[in-house]
This record gives sequence, C-alpha cells and structure tokens, in this order.
Amino acid sequence: MSVHTMPRDPASLGLAGRNLLKELDFTKDEWFSLVHYARELRTERRFGLRPARLAGRNIALVFEKTSTRTRAAFEVAAHEEGAHVTYLGPGESQIGVKESVKDTARVLGRMFDGIEYRGGAHDDAELLGRFAGVPVWNGLTDAWHPTQALADLLTMEDFSAEPIEEVVCAYLGDTRNNTASSLLVSGALVGMDVRLVGPPALWPSPGVVSAAEQLAGASGGRVSVTDDVEEGVDGADFVYTDVWVSMGEPASSWDERIELLLAYQVSEAVMKATGRPDTRFMHCLPALHGTDTEVGRALQRSHGLTALEVTDEVFESDASVVFDQAENRLHTIKAIMLATLAG
Ligand code: CP
Ligand code: NVA
Repeated sequence: MSVHTMPRDPASLGLAGRNLLKELDFTKDEWFSLVHYARELRTERRFGLRPARLAGRNIALVFEKTSTRTRAAFEVAAHEEGAHVTYLGPGESQIGVKESVKDTARVLGRMFDGIEYRGGAHDDAELLGRFAGVPVWNGLTDAWHPTQALADLLTMEDFSAEPIEEVVCAYLGDTRNNTASSLLVSGALVGMDVRLVGPPALWPSPGVVSAAEQLAGASGGRVSVTDDVEEGVDGADFVYTDVWVSMGEPASSWDERIELLLAYQVSEAVMKATGRPDTRFMHCLPALHGTDTEVGRALQRSHGLTALEVTDEVFESDASVVFDQAENRLHTIKAIMLATLAG
C-alpha cells in the first residue's frame, strides 16, 4: 500500500468526542466524511493491514435487543484496532431495571472510552449520550438506525456509477420504522432522491418527513412518501426493504402487517417495475425470504407464506447486494469509533 492510499488521520474528520445518535445531528460534510473514511479503512484492511489505533481503549457494548451484524461489527472493528470490548447483552446488566439510564451512563462513562447502545426508546440513547461523558454510538433504537444508514450510503456509492446526488432509492414496506427513517434522513442530508413506499397506516410521522424535507431542500435532494408501488419504484437505482415487524413489537402484529404489507413485498415484478436493468436490491438484514428460520416456518404454518418482505428469488438474485451491505457495517462502524475516539 502506497502512502497515497493510507487512510487519513481520524482526527482530521473533526469528530473527536462526538456522539453518533441520529443523522439529524450531522452536517452533509461530516456524514460524507465518515462514509469516505470507511472506504479508506476498507482498502487498508484488504491490504491486510491492521494498525492498532485504539490500543488500550475499552468499549462497552450495551444491547437491550439481540444482534448479529451490529455486535459483530463493533467487536471485530474494536479488536482489529487493538481495543477491548465488554458485551452487556439483553437482561445482563442493571440498565433500566434496577438502575436508571442516567446513572448507568455516569457509571459506564467512568470506565469506558466509548459506549455502543442498542435499545427501545430513542430518548434513552440521548440520555446516555448526554451523561456518559464519552462518545455514545446508537446501534439501533425504535426511532433511528444511523450506523446502518452509513453502511447503506457506502454500499450505494459502491454500486452506483452516478454521484450520490443522482441516486434514486425506493424503500418498500414499514416506512415508519428505524431503518426507513434513517435512510430517509441520511439520503436527504446527502442529496439523494429517497422514496418511501407503503400503506398510509405505516407512514412516518410528519416530524420525520418535514425534517427530511428541510434537509433535502438544502442539499438538492428529494423525499417523498407514497402508497403507489409503480410510481415509487419508477427509475429506482436501489430497491430497499426491511422486516415488517421490528424488534420490540409484539408477535401479534404479524396478522395486521401481512394484510397491510403483502402488496409491498419485493418480488421480481417490483424489480422489473423500476424500468431499469441494473436496479440493485438492498436489505439491512436479517431478512425473512424463505422458510429456513423459526419465524419463517411459523408464518408459513399460520399464513401459508414462504416469504415475507422479499421473495427468495430476488434475495438470491444477482441484483442483491445485501452481503456487501452487511460487510460495510464493519468498515463504517470502525470509521465511527476511530473518528470519535481520535486524539
Ligand atoms: N442490520 C442490523 O442491525 O443487524 P443486526 O440486528 O443483526 O445487528
Ligand atoms: N427494523 C428492524 C431493523 C433490524 C436491523 C428492527 O428494528 O428490528
């Protein structure tokens, strides 16, 4: 690796000491700088280089919900940079049960250099960020999933020949969940055309839409919400979906969601309706695209469905970039930790 392809000094991003709680807290330049720094880190890793820039640091991973990618990305990124991690999984600490979030923040902040938090109410992530005194990274709340949004942007840049300002992304399904809100605001921030496509009963709050509209106004982007699949996916470079029932929602929601969302399942017909031969399929994962999971089998028994938000055909097709997207969680999460722990 030549000196020209070495990643920049993380301090040069100017994000030392910052929290990463939601996209709305960042400027376009800051958000892009994290994506582009992540690409530099990915190149470095592919050269086999593992500089321990976080040697001696301690990272807390507080998960009040389960995870595969987010936990794995934080752990691998931390280990590759020489840091130690402490995993406090669902039900494994006092947080919220015998100890307030505010007290937990002040305890963990005395011991750790940075804290990842995955939970329910977004206000809990904000409280941790306010009282910990060290950077807090939101690994998903009911409202936002910002580390996912960064990986999604990197993936869209990877798979689009056009600049991000010319990219059209259509998200189908539960348009008011964390992934959809983060995609909308992140896309608006950087100037994309983001379309949320789903039934009105599951549209995002006016507050989220108007915040995104304001950002899009400043960046030259476009945001829209529609219940019309044909209109929503027309010309889309990327078709994105997520689970129909998110973590923390009762299993009893499935009946209602299936009724509302079956018309928004991503199928070959939906991919064709973009009118483009090169549309890519994205999903934050985990995905219910078959019957090789407990939930998938239960829904096959109860509703006779063999796929939920995306058909197996689309998920396994050449258009699908979901595993590149998953790998990009590692590089973007490493970028976040290095940038905010710099110095
Ligand atoms: N996409 C995502 O956040 O996956 P996990 O729930 O496995 O972390
Ligand atoms: N909306 C999903 C995202 C999972 C990564 C959930 O909250 O369960």
